[in-house]
Amino acid sequence: MAVSKDKTVWFCKNCGNESTKWMGRCPACGEWNTMVESVVATGKPYRNQPARQASGNRPVHLKEIDSSAECRLSLGMGEIDRLLGGGIVRGSLVLVGGEPGIGKSTLSLQIPLFSPGLKTLYVSGEESARQVKMRADRLGGDDSNCFIFSETDMGNIIAQAESLRPDLMVVDSVQTMFSANVESSAGSVTQIKEVTSMLLHFAKVSGIPVILIGHITKDGYIAGPKILEHIVDVVLQFEGDNKGSYRILRSIKNRFGSTSELAVFEMTGKGLREVTNPSEMLIPMHEEGLSGTAICATLDGLRPFLFEVQALVSTAAYGTAQRSATGFDVRRLNMLLAVLEKRAGFKLNMKDVFLNMAGGMRISDPACDLAVVCAVLSSNFDFAIQPDICFAGEVGLSGEIRPVNQTERRVTEAARLGFKKIYISSFSSLDSGIKGIETVRVPDVPALVRTLFKG
Ligand code: TYD
Ligand code: MG
Repeated sequence: MAVSKDKTVWFCKNCGNESTKWMGRCPACGEWNTMVESVVATGKPYRNQPARQASGNRPVHLKEIDSSAECRLSLGMGEIDRLLGGGIVRGSLVLVGGEPGIGKSTLSLQIPLFSPGLKTLYVSGEESARQVKMRADRLGGDDSNCFIFSETDMGNIIAQAESLRPDLMVVDSVQTMFSANVESSAGSVTQIKEVTSMLLHFAKVSGIPVILIGHITKDGYIAGPKILEHIVDVVLQFEGDNKGSYRILRSIKNRFGSTSELAVFEMTGKGLREVTNPSEMLIPMHEEGLSGTAICATLDGLRPFLFEVQALVSTAAYGTAQRSATGFDVRRLNMLLAVLEKRAGFKLNMKDVFLNMAGGMRISDPACDLAVVCAVLSSNFDFAIQPDICFAGEVGLSGEIRPVNQTERRVTEAARLGFKKIYISSFSSLDSGIKGIETVRVPDVPALVRTLFKG
């Protein structure tokens, strides 16, 4: 028998790059101070065991492989099924990441409760079976086909799962699980990697899909190292402000569907509620326009939705003006303010500017620039934009308004929601007029100011 020999390797927390020695800067992604030490047992790791050979695995002809719809299971919540590309694929490993308290355990317990047709094994390393039961009682639903297992030893979990043979397994969370195959404490890089590859192997061999929960730290590393993203099939990330009630579940990797799709949920006293039409929740309830708000027609994945951008511009109380943005890149806000100053002559350098994306949204779509600019100007002039106007356009450094992708989808969604006017770029290639909505084409910021704030 080979003598177990441990070796030390270094992983980059940011990209998962592996190196035999410590380096100040990761050669793969260029980030500084991201290398963490980890001990790898070279004795007999799980993934090298001859189990696959014994299972009779062999190459198969492509045309013999069954890829029919049967390979997917519905999870009982339409939004999650859609996010996964039409249900969870058999034998896949899905990582759900998010900050503590955002609702990962709630969501993963709601899935078995709302799909009683699936026999589910819910493994919790964080809560006792009784605690899970209390939570389940609060969530409601049907608990007749759900098994709870409070355990952290992966060997036992896999053995129990193999004998129970559920239709779906949930493991909460990767950081609390440990495998006896490697000698380091639960939550270390080595354990996280080993636990994940054990689950991947289990999922692939048994065909049972596994949902794995991973905490991410404030700086956005899933499960500590981002390395898990390479191992798993699907990565869903929970976002949102813990205090607000909206939660956004975003697909950031999907081997079986499109990425950059999102689903919106609302945290209620009875768990997470699906928000099937996010636009209706994210646009304001007030009839009369308020100054400092502008509606943006954005897109996530292929789905357009509208939401409110809020700005507050006030005279700086202290010498230096403050700029703060929630859900929007503050550097981009600074750039847009500089454009307003340089290209349209607005003196904003002595003003505090606060920006907020409604509903705890985090936006990176450049089409929001126009709504941000309009919200800032609206607050600055104390001039309310009519509530039936929305915006979709990118603002360039010379003050030009640039066309954005999928303009037609955005305009169609705005029309569907009853907006009467949408401001887009003059250079947009949208040719046919869309019924029920007027498209206002503006070439640059000065022209926008002339048409919108002429009153
Ligand atoms: P949880 O799912 O435990 O978060 P995570 O597993 O991501 O750490 O969510 C916990 C939060 O959700 C907690 O602050 C309480 C809140 N919550 C509700 O508002 N309603 C509910 O029905 C449940 C179960 C939780
Ligand atoms: Mg939890």
